[in-house]
Parts: sequence; structure tokens; C-alpha cells
Amino acid sequence: MAKHVVTLISGDGIGPEITKAMTRVVEATGVDIEWESVEAGADVMEKYGTPLPQHVLDSVRKNKVAIKGPITTPIGTGFRSVNVALRKELDLYTCLRPSFSIPGTGARYDNVDLVIVRENTEDLYAGIEFEEGSKGAEELIKFVADHGAGIIRPDSGISLKPISVTCTRRIVKFAFDYAIANGRKKVTAVHKANILKYSDGLFLKVAREVAEEYADSGIEFEDYIIDATCMQLVLHPEWWDVLVLPNLYGDILSDLAAGLIGGLGMAPGANIGADYAVFEPVHGSAPKYAGKDMANPTALILSAVLMLNHLGEREAADRVLAAVKTVLAEGEKVTYDIKRTNTGSTEGCVGTQTYADAVIEKL
Ligand code: NAI
Repeated sequence: MAKHVVTLISGDGIGPEITKAMTRVVEATGVDIEWESVEAGADVMEKYGTPLPQHVLDSVRKNKVAIKGPITTPIGTGFRSVNVALRKELDLYTCLRPSFSIPGTGARYDNVDLVIVRENTEDLYAGIEFEEGSKGAEELIKFVADHGAGIIRPDSGISLKPISVTCTRRIVKFAFDYAIANGRKKVTAVHKANILKYSDGLFLKVAREVAEEYADSGIEFEDYIIDATCMQLVLHPEWWDVLVLPNLYGDILSDLAAGLIGGLGMAPGANIGADYAVFEPVHGSAPKYAGKDMANPTALILSAVLMLNHLGEREAADRVLAAVKTVLAEGEKVTYDIKRTNTGSTEGCVGTQTYADAVIEKL
């Protein structure tokens, strides 16, 4: 048996192509790894009656580590996000998204080196929703009125935003532990506590308590309001170090941070819990590029770098990162998105697999 058995979910849309590119790069490092391929999403719905079959969860539970491509979520109707369900089922309570500048991407900034630590299990993503006109919505509207908490229009759909002491404590602790382990200097808690007193207000209160416990760690702590954070991230991306946020703000700021470093094609991620870790890029399935051998596999390849580090394969991780940096710095064999950001045109770009070949050549 291989030294590492990793669950592989290639996903849909551009998922299968970028997954192929990623597995080829990882295998070319010589790391002793075996992929256990399983599938989730709309394509398996008919066969298993669910977009997230039990055997997929069993595979991750057995192997403890998985890497996945994006999975499409139907908007407004249909099944709930498989990605969100996977994070909840496996209690992958941290979404870790490092954003760092790599020369050659044509990004607007060359001085970004921040890490987003996003709470992954609650907030508006808890999936507790009441459809407009449903009995549940009607009862909830009455409950709110009866408690003098406010008037909700009868034709409203409602999504709940639960934020707990438990989940806030563990995510802020994760941010501090990560900061210490990775030589970081500052943790910033991001919130809207001035308006959302009982949800974000609680997040901030607990974050401050945890920060107190880490007072001797040498890690600086500060808090910032989400809207001000957005502006300052764009004005001064170099200010930021580790940012810890509730789920929805973390999701939105992850894309903003990806924009600072050259776009979604560049932004890796990891979902980490006490027992399991699932690595995946920030971006989605980009359906309009599916099957065209155009998508940039860098975000997934860099997610694999995070995975290799997690598996203790630091040398292989460093080699892959260095190879990606070299190919981007040379700027010859890059995908359409990078070519366009650099030159304003996609002329001369290469496809997904040719880019992967270039990375493999530099390993
Ligand atoms: P998206 O991230 O799939 O794509 C937005 C745009 O970003 C694309 O049209 C493309 O221009 C660019 N882009 C994204 N990835 C790229 C890559 N690797 N290389 C080059 N360009 C890239 O976001 P969108 O369109 O909002 O979502 C599409 C689907 O993906 C939805 O069903 C959504 O729910 C799902 N999704 C899944 C995620 C996951 O599996 N974790 C995360 C985010 C979205």
C-alpha cells in the first residue's frame, strides 16, 4: 500500500481537467501517494439518489485527507451545496485560504501575504432557511412579532444567522495557533458587531476573550469592521496578516483576496477539522470553461501544496511551489487568465495540461 492514500473528488465543470493536471504534478514529484477516486454532485444524483453519497464520506473518514475539484450548486432551487454539506458532515470547521503574491501573475499588487481563516460551519451558511409562504416562515414571523423583536413582512423568505461561543472559540483559537506555528505576527477578527449585536457581537466578544488567553504568545490582536476591512484590503493589502471571520464574510473576502493576487485561478484553500482535512481551491466549477482545456489549475495545484505539507511531504510541497513560481515568472506557458492579466489579451496562452507539463518540467 502507498504511504499516503488520499480521497480524490474531481468534481464537475472544470473540475476533472484541473484535477488531472494536479494529480499529474503531484505524481511527478515521486511522492508515494495513491488516489481513492469517488464522485459527488449532480452527476451522481441519479445513481445514488443524493449528490453526496455515503461512500464519499466514508472514504474521507477512512483516509482522513481528501482533495477535491469544484462542484456546481444549483442556484435557488435543487439540492443544497455539496461543498457546504461536506464541510458540515465532517465538521471541517476551518476554511484556510492563504493569499500571497507570485511574480508573473500580472496581479495589481506584488506585496500580498495574508491568510484568511473562515469559520466553516455556521452563520448564514448553516442552511437554516424558511421559504417564503411556508408554514415555518409564517410561524417564525409570528414568533418574532409575539416576542416584540420586530415586524417581518409576511411575504419574506428567511435565513438564520447562528453564531455560537463554541464555534467562535475554536476558530479564533485555530487562527492564533496557526499564526504561532507559521511565524505570523497579527490576528485580525473581522465582524459587523456594531449592527449585529447578538451574532457578530458575540463573535467579537469571544474573539477578544481568546486573544486574552494568547496575550503572551507575541501575536498581536486587533478587530476590524467588515466594510472598512474591504476598503483597507484594496488600499493596503500589505497591512494584513491572519484574518479570522464568520462564514459569509470569510467567503466574500476570500474572493476579494484572490483578486489581489491575480484572480480565482491562483487561490488555494483547505477545509480543516479536528479529524479530517479536505483541500480545494477557492473558485467554483466555472461552467463556461468546462471541457475546453482552458482553466488555470494553479489554485488546485497550490491546494495540493497545502495538502503535501499537511501530509508531512515538505520537500515535495516546496518543489511544486517553486516550479509553479518559475513557470509563472517565465510567463511563456501560462493559461488564458494569467496571459490576459499580464498582456490584456489571451494570445499566446496555453491550455490546462500544457501548463501542467511546464510545471512538471521544472520540478
Ligand atoms: P467560479 O469560481 O466557478 O467562476 C467565476 C469566474 O472565475 C469564471 O467564469 C472564470 O472567469 C473565473 N475562474 C474561476 N476559476 C478559474 C480557473 N481555475 N481558471 C481560470 N478562470 C477561473 O464561480 P461561479 O461562476 O460563481 O460558480 C460556478 C459554480 O461553482 C456554482 O454552481 C457555484 O455554486 C460553484 N462553486 C463551487 C465551489 C466549490 O466547489 N467549493 C466554490 C465556489 C463556487
